[in-house]
Amino acid sequence: MPGKQWRDAIAVDGVESNWVTRVAVGTRQFAIYDTPSGIHASLAVCNHGGADLCDGYFDGHVIECPLHQGAFDVRDGRPVCPPATRSMRVFETRIKDGMVQILF
Ligand code: FES
Repeated sequence: MPGKQWRDAIAVDGVESNWVTRVAVGTRQFAIYDTPSGIHASLAVCNHGGADLCDGYFDGHVIECPLHQGAFDVRDGRPVCPPATRSMRVFETRIKDGMVQILF
């Protein structure tokens, strides 16, 4: 299995301002968040019950899941509202040549 590498996810211009954008990279679905502290990324699937976080409500640094309204801080993945109790997986991001890249 190859190690982690930076992979292009989406053009910076394609990221919705102050909101969450769904992106497929290879076989994985990511949620890309535009926040006051920059771009953050997580897996798109909620670790509580499998809902698509990209259909949730996003405010500041917090994504609220559309299914049971559990919520996570997208900066570090920690759960901030039940029934979410486990941290979600988050990924490092960077901007390069006009693209958002994710390290995985
Ligand atoms: S599936 Fe996301 S909180 Fe339940």
